[in-house]
Amino acid sequence: MEIKAIKDIDSEKFEVLVINMFENEKTTQELANKFAIKKDKFEGKFCTTYLLHTLGQEKFDKILVVGFGKREEFDANRCREAISKATKKLQQIHCKSACFDLATELDYGKSATLGVSIANYAFDKYKSKKAPRVEKIYFTKFSEKEVKEGNIFANAMDFTRNLSNDSAAVITPKKLAEVAESLKGITTRVYDKDEIKRLKMGAFLAVSQGSHQEPRFIHMKYTGKKVTKKIAIIGKGLTFDAGGLDLKPASSMLTMRDDMSGAACILGVMSALSELNPDIEVNGIIAACENMPGCKAYKPGDVLTAKNGKTIEVDNTDAEGRLTLADALCFAEELGVDEIVDIATLTGACVVALGSTVSGIMGNDEKLVQKLIQIGKKSGEKFWELPMYDDYFESIKSNIADMKNTGSRQGGASIAGVFLREFVTDKVKWAHLDVAGTAFIEKPHNEFIEGSTGMGVRTLLNYICEK
Ligand code: BES
Ligand code: MN
Ligand code: ZN
Repeated sequence: MEIKAIKDIDSEKFEVLVINMFENEKTTQELANKFAIKKDKFEGKFCTTYLLHTLGQEKFDKILVVGFGKREEFDANRCREAISKATKKLQQIHCKSACFDLATELDYGKSATLGVSIANYAFDKYKSKKAPRVEKIYFTKFSEKEVKEGNIFANAMDFTRNLSNDSAAVITPKKLAEVAESLKGITTRVYDKDEIKRLKMGAFLAVSQGSHQEPRFIHMKYTGKKVTKKIAIIGKGLTFDAGGLDLKPASSMLTMRDDMSGAACILGVMSALSELNPDIEVNGIIAACENMPGCKAYKPGDVLTAKNGKTIEVDNTDAEGRLTLADALCFAEELGVDEIVDIATLTGACVVALGSTVSGIMGNDEKLVQKLIQIGKKSGEKFWELPMYDDYFESIKSNIADMKNTGSRQGGASIAGVFLREFVTDKVKWAHLDVAGTAFIEKPHNEFIEGSTGMGVRTLLNYICEK
């Protein structure tokens, strides 16, 4: 699909002209009036659409009017949502090319481009009959620069969504490593099973044991021309989470191919960096494996030693994500970075607490947490801070090791948070994003269809690119 900024509506040929209307305001565009919008009382309510036929009187076949809602409530996020609504309407009428000639003063080119692209996404790789998609979109009022940045973000999201929607049979740990190695402008080092042993990642290795798919530890690195800051971003990379010997029931296992959504997010982010060229060093880290109940599987009661020497009693083999992240966090801190952000489909408890549109966030540095919440808000991704009081550690105290990997079911997202905190020191700023509810959704919501949402890509890219 092509999305580009053009000078005016005469610069390109297209089938549908899209214009906007704020609620209860007269449209400033004569065209809409000419084709009788007044008579039909279209009110311009947020995300409503209205289709007019030009009956051969214009060089385009149709005019689509999209409601922008109340002018005082309009912002970049509402712009993205309204434009994605219009895009879905364009798909419905099997339109292949359209031009948005919007009456807005602000340059929302990036949001608008994302709105089109997110709405136009379909995972139809395995379908004989492909989903209808718009092929060409033009914007007259937005700058080339904003639309270009929107396209880079949009491609990163598509990349992430394709990885996380695909089957576990295809997206194996080895495949994730290959994807990492194929990224432009990124140096990648992949560690195999023996090397993971040598790195002393006893927790990660244990999780991987029950599967015939071998684990891969992936370290990607992007270095900007100037390096003002060094960060690490870590993604949970469980290419399938059956639960291990503490096997999940069938209904919970159904979507567990999505348990590498954190990893997919990191790969999407890394794929965009050589185009965005931020002045920063970004280390992308993924501990990729499967959690299966094979005959070599790790067992409840096993004691594991993580990379930093701390010992963990396995209480439940289905709390595997935190074990893989423990070693990844130690590895990241050893790189000498200033900040670490991990993103993980970590706990069902977070889904219970926050639902499928808000992600959990925790961390050891309030400033970093608040910054990510703010950037998230602007990016159209919602985060809510969950507490990490020491009380939460009580239930994971062990009689035989430094800690257990699970304790009480109550406050499960926070317990996972305080567990992870054991694997970073106070010397590094760290934030943890729990996207178990938001990375992969069961029903369509706003601009998203069911399945992967590319959660985290926009927030992390904006965080990396902020000056
Ligand atoms: N991958 C799951 C968490 C999850 C749940 C992701 C729902 C997406 C949707 C994680 O590994 C897990 O199994 N967590 C357990 C932890 C429990 C055993 C303490 C959970 O949340 O039930
Ligand atoms: Mn699990
Ligand atoms: Zn998991």
